[in-house]
Amino acid sequence: MKKLVLLRHGQSVWNLENRFTGWTDVELSPAGLLEAVEAGRLIKDAGLLPDIAYTSVLQRAIKTLWLGLEVCERMWIPTVPDWRLNERHYGALQGLDKAETAAKYGEQQVLVWRRSYDTAPPLLAESDPRSERHDPRYEQTEALKAMAGETLEDTVARVVPLWEQAMAPMVQSGRQVLVVAHGNSLRALIKHLGRHTREEIMELNIPTGIPLIYELDDQGSVLDHYYLGDPDKVAVLTQAVANQGRLQS
Ligand code: 3PG
Repeated sequence: MKKLVLLRHGQSVWNLENRFTGWTDVELSPAGLLEAVEAGRLIKDAGLLPDIAYTSVLQRAIKTLWLGLEVCERMWIPTVPDWRLNERHYGALQGLDKAETAAKYGEQQVLVWRRSYDTAPPLLAESDPRSERHDPRYEQTEALKAMAGETLEDTVARVVPLWEQAMAPMVQSGRQVLVVAHGNSLRALIKHLGRHTREEIMELNIPTGIPLIYELDDQGSVLDHYYLGDPDKVAVLTQAVANQGRLQS
């Protein structure tokens, strides 16, 4: 049995402000920095010291990885940043307040934008100053076609090849693999790992900064999954993620 460690980055400054983030490269909040350190401690205490780590090219995930590895005294392992682990691109929603967007378009529409499998967000024009089109980290990659905005289905289509080509062989060869990514890129990976239906994956919300363990058999089938740390805290934080698209009371 293999154990794969998945970790959503610590709270970012836009998580704190309840803004759609996507590929916008915002930093961790002070609380997010602490979450990253605590995640590293939980991973270390569970004896899941990573041999290799994969992350996105966004600083909130990379910094979470760095802080976690420092706690684990594993800063020397290979770390692989890949744009395919980036958050789902949120198109023209990037930067908008989630509750204000619910007030304007309705909670149901925001839920569809956040959690439906095949509905894209409003698209981001190439000329929009928020576009990442000229960002050097995406040069000569297939990332360009994601930059208008993605469905979760699109995100699955870029995450799964990375899993199959790079991460799964590492897991199956017995390496302890850590993946530090984002709410929706991890949902995309989990949909694939757990063979979830599109309806099931709509219900999944992932809190920031809490390691999520997937136990896999030799064929890669999921045997079990669970968060490290206090289950009551995980439940509260998971519900808080679900509520981000609600009207403010
Ligand atoms: C974002 O990009 O806004 C968040 O990281 C994930 O947002 P969501 O939970 O609204 O999909």
